[in-house]
Amino acid sequence: MRILVVGSGGREHAICLAFSKSPRVTKLFCANGNAGIAGLAECVQIKPDDIRALAEFAVKNAIDLTFVGGETPLALGIVDEFECRSLKIIGASQAAARLESSKAFSKDFMSRHGVPTAMFRNANSADEAIAILNEGVFGDESSPVVVKADGLAAGKGVVVAASRKEAVDAIKELATIAGEAAASKIVLEECLFGREVSLIMFVDGEDFALMPPTRDHKRIGEGDTGPNTGGMGTITDVSLMSEEQTRQVVEEIIKPTLRGCVEEGFRFRGILFLGLMMTAEGPKLLEYNVRFGDPETQSILVRLETDLVDICEAMLAGKLGEAEIRWVPGSSATVVLAAEGYPYSPRKGDVLSGLDYAEDVTIFHAGTAKNDAGEFVTAGGRVLGVTATGNDLASTLEKCYLAIEKISWAGMQYRRDIGK
Ligand code: AMP
Ligand code: GLY
Repeated sequence: MRILVVGSGGREHAICLAFSKSPRVTKLFCANGNAGIAGLAECVQIKPDDIRALAEFAVKNAIDLTFVGGETPLALGIVDEFECRSLKIIGASQAAARLESSKAFSKDFMSRHGVPTAMFRNANSADEAIAILNEGVFGDESSPVVVKADGLAAGKGVVVAASRKEAVDAIKELATIAGEAAASKIVLEECLFGREVSLIMFVDGEDFALMPPTRDHKRIGEGDTGPNTGGMGTITDVSLMSEEQTRQVVEEIIKPTLRGCVEEGFRFRGILFLGLMMTAEGPKLLEYNVRFGDPETQSILVRLETDLVDICEAMLAGKLGEAEIRWVPGSSATVVLAAEGYPYSPRKGDVLSGLDYAEDVTIFHAGTAKNDAGEFVTAGGRVLGVTATGNDLASTLEKCYLAIEKISWAGMQYRRDIGK
């Protein structure tokens, strides 16, 4: 089979690695890939948001299956574009992608289908959002409140404000941080407390198959301090969700969601990601994503034993319920190494060293490129992910951090407390 993966980050590197292990794959392309992916796949210089050019490429190159990594092409309708041309593709349709591409839509959807989530109000402007805050809907001036840009903002559209004043400041700055378009509508939410879990699943429209639950570490700083990022590290471990919590999430969140999609006229086929908060009142849904997480995927797919091509075919045939999906038991972890200046203005062009000396781990490239001398250099915010597996979390993390000691570049930053 000839496979095309769409995207250019660490997540897509992990997806390419999973496909490259399949004996059924004869040729792997990635659009547009990165310097690390180039070691596994032929990188095609078409940007993930150029969905028409991608469909034309797939036709011309007799691609048997396309797998979409990120949300932007899904929100632009890449799946609809491919399906019109009878091309096989894994991902959510444009209608289903609204669950992620509009937070106001997704919160209203949760309300319509009784999915437990934080109390919220949608606002059509910054002034309206400030007026809602001043009504006291989210408590008094010292109450925390969460301010979210409605649209896609690459993980940078959410501010957890400690007080009303901070929330007002965040509302005023949101267009600058998240972009004007994303911040044209604003969602305000009650602040929930608890531990977060990312629960990702394969969905074929009717049936779903859960992947191992993951914990992301969203803040830039150790001890969960500083601004939110796309994610600084992830773990998978049996301790993340109890059987009872899993049962609750399936009954109260997943089943109503999939039923809701059908009732609203869009079946969900693709990868569904639940951002969950395990609160004292039970699991609540923070958000939907309609794709794999980054860096969740790196920690998940290193544990996948089943051929990813077989899973994709079962999804396309609506036979996920019959598929047996096996995972390597134990734990996994990914620690993200970021460039100086991330998340606001990452510096490009710093030369990476020591990659060949890192042992017992898988290194996933995200923002890397090669310079004229053929060296890897920083080319984005999150530069590398260092991923390990093991029987337990402690030994797995030790492998990651030992390998990281060998790797360096000017201004490299990472969290030393992933999984701790
Ligand atoms: P989201 O993109 O909606 O998942 O938000 C990004 C991050 O902001 C989440 O992973 C949480 O850490 C935090 N967050 C979002 N919504 C809330 C909330 N209602 N209460 C507390 N933290 C939140
Ligand atoms: N790591 C969080 C995300 O991919 O949305």
